[in-house]
Amino acid sequence: MRTETDWEAVHQRQTDRAQEVLGWCWRLLALDRGDTVLDLGCGPGYPAAWIAERIEPGAVIAVDRDSGALTYLRCQHPTPSIVTMLGDIRYLPLRFDGPIPTLLTFVLHHIDRPVDAIESIGTALPAGSPVIIAEYRPSAAGDVGPPLDRRISSAAIRRWLRRAGFTVEHERPLPNEKVVILARRCSS
Ligand SMILES: C[S@@+](CC[C@H](N)C(=O)[O-])C[C@H]1O[C@@H](n2cnc3c(N)ncnc32)[C@H](O)[C@@H]1O
Repeated sequence: MRTETDWEAVHQRQTDRAQEVLGWCWRLLALDRGDTVLDLGCGPGYPAAWIAERIEPGAVIAVDRDSGALTYLRCQHPTPSIVTMLGDIRYLPLRFDGPIPTLLTFVLHHIDRPVDAIESIGTALPAGSPVIIAEYRPSAAGDVGPPLDRRISSAAIRRWLRRAGFTVEHERPLPNEKVVILARRCSS
């Protein structure tokens, strides 16, 4: 049975880790005003709102499979520069004309077959699109974040990325057991 998610608690966790993670996302994706950004598994929306404010008049396309998360996001951050979309990352219907910077932060460990999500992202994104993946490290102590047995190694993520047509450009451990990976969709 699926339990009700406390989106306010998730939003608070997003806000708490924002300083550790979002600055890196901003720099590694080389974001600028007027950009369009894809936020996959956006949750209740703090990262989407943080980025939307800084890329105005651009926009964030915020995708989540949970309508409760998107409702919370729209209530907390009622800005036209965030477009919400209900959907499963494993079956993305989106296609883009040009490269689109993409966030996939703290989502993969929630997905039964994370490799399917990465394959789907590889199909949806055009060549040149940079993707940031953030997760919790399985080799860490387990004092914060999801249980150690739910975490995914960056070696596995890198392998799936390469198989889905990405080049891995950068990996960096972040404070409090986190890791961030930058990959870019190659031309097929
Ligand atoms: C821990 S939250 C992370 C939110 C945000 N990305 C962040 O960095 O704080 C994980 C989110 O991923 C969403 N999610 C999990 N699996 C998904 C899937 N297959 N498709 C779309 N969203 C998914 C969940 O509903 C949840 O809102």
